Order: sequence, then structure tokens, then C-alpha cells
Amino acid sequence: MSGESPRHPMDHFPVRPLEFDVDGLAGKDPVWSRSCPEFAMFLNALGIHVPYFERYLIRVLNRAKASVDDPELREAMSGIIGQEAHHAKNFIAYNRFLAATYPRAADFDAEARDFFIEHLKTDSPRRQAAFTAGYETFTFLAGMVVLDNYDRWFSDSDPTIKAMWVWHQVEEVEHGAVAFDVYKKLYGKHEWYRKYMVLVALKHIAGETLRAYFHMARQSGYLRNPWRAWKSTKFVVGTLLRMLWLAKPVMSRRYHPRNHPLVTDRQNPIAVAWRKFEGDGGDVLAIDREKMDLILRTN
Ligand SMILES: [Fe+2]
Ligand SMILES: [Fe+2]
Repeated sequence: MSGESPRHPMDHFPVRPLEFDVDGLAGKDPVWSRSCPEFAMFLNALGIHVPYFERYLIRVLNRAKASVDDPELREAMSGIIGQEAHHAKNFIAYNRFLAATYPRAADFDAEARDFFIEHLKTDSPRRQAAFTAGYETFTFLAGMVVLDNYDRWFSDSDPTIKAMWVWHQVEEVEHGAVAFDVYKKLYGKHEWYRKYMVLVALKHIAGETLRAYFHMARQSGYLRNPWRAWKSTKFVVGTLLRMLWLAKPVMSRRYHPRNHPLVTDRQNPIAVAWRKFEGDGGDVLAIDREKMDLILRTN
């Protein structure tokens, strides 16, 4: 799909079966952004548990399909399931790369896997749908925030890891309404519960991110120097608080992800150009400065 913009990014989004050269990262510094090392550490920390949430989402939405007959929503459900399956595959491989540097990364990975497998067994279908929708609120918001800060956070960074995150964040925005629509369709009258689960999901994301982040910061020696420790703490706490702030519109009864100000005020030019470049057959598996210039020129 060529993704001709400026159409809405959530319309008929494709599944892109990309496979990144994660094995080729062996031996590289996992703090992959020289523009902003704290950002690299933040995404590494946030990302450890995400593939297991993605597999949870796939199971939840596959089950929910039996209760949804709207053909457009079913098409979007197939789309998100396909996108998240490819995210999980690449990012579970990436966790193995992180485990080579961070002694506790493999434990965090295993605990996240067990947590989501357990919750698939114990949570009610309504809770599963609400947790999935609440969680997707933040992958969607993070998708836009990360792309909007490209120059500050990504400009000088490892081309493969940057390419993985640009891909992931573009797709999180594309499918950012699907879990919300499924919850509304199946449990729409339980509006208070939807909002409550947005906060439950944020608490889970923040807890997982903070423990992995401070483990990584300690391993990298950032916590030995008071200035560096302050800078690292400020980044992770500030970024999580920003997510909470951006979630404010989500608490309105009239909210829909399609209408979040970050999507409607303007579309991120990198996302628009990346979709077109990839849709035209361009190689997006590694993005250095020249490649990003090329991608932006194709828009
Ligand atoms: Fe994802
Ligand atoms: Fe997602």
C-alpha cells in the first residue's frame, strides 16, 4: 500500500512483515542514541515487556473477533494482529541483545511473559479488552511523541535500532484506534471502566519501565555521578508524566483516538514520508542520516 498522504493514518493500514538484523547488533553498545542516551535507555527499558503485551493483545482480539461482525472493524482487527505479531517477533529478538549487557534483562523478559500468560487465564474478557485498549492509548501517544522528537532523540543513533523504533511507532499510530473501537463495540456502556483501565495500564507500563530503566542506568554507571543520576531520573519521570498529561483527552466521554489533537493538528512528516517510502518498496531496515534524507525527499 502506498499510503498516499495526507489521508488519515488509521485508514486501511497495511501489515508490513519486516525482519530487522537484530543478530547483527551483537557486541554493539545498547545505549544506541548518542543524541540522547537517556532516550535510548528509556525505550530499551519500556520495550522489554512490550512484546508480551503484544502477544496478549493478539490473543484478546482474536477471541473478541467472534463477537464483532462489523466488516471494517474486523479488517482493522486483522491489521493490528498482523502488525503486533511482527513487532513481538523483532522485539523479543532485541531483548536477547539487551540481555548480553544487562544481567536482569532476561528476568524482566521472563517475568513479563509469565505475567501476560497468567492474565490471559485469569482476567475476564471485559478486563482483557479494557486493559488492551488502555495500554494501546500509550503506545499510540508514545508513537506520536517519539516521532515528533526525532531530531532531539534519534538523529545520531544506530541505524538498525532507529529503523525498528520508527517502524514500530508509525504502526502504533496507524492501529491506535482498533482496541479502543473493540472495547466500545463490546462494552461501550462501561465508560468509567474504560477510563479506570487507562490508568491501570499506565501504572503497569510505568512500573515495568522504571525498574528496567534504573537497572540499566546503574549498570551504565549513570547513578554514580549525581548530575548524571539527576538527568537520568528527570528524563524517565518527565517522559512518563508527559504521557499522563497527553492522556487527558482520553478521559472524555467524547474521545476517539482518531480525533486526538496530536493526530488531527498535523500529521508527523516523518511518519507520512516513511509510509510512502516503504509502500513504494523502499528499504527501511536501517535508517542512517542519508536514508532519512532520502525518505523525507520522497514525500
Ligand atoms: Fe506494537
Ligand atoms: Fe499496538
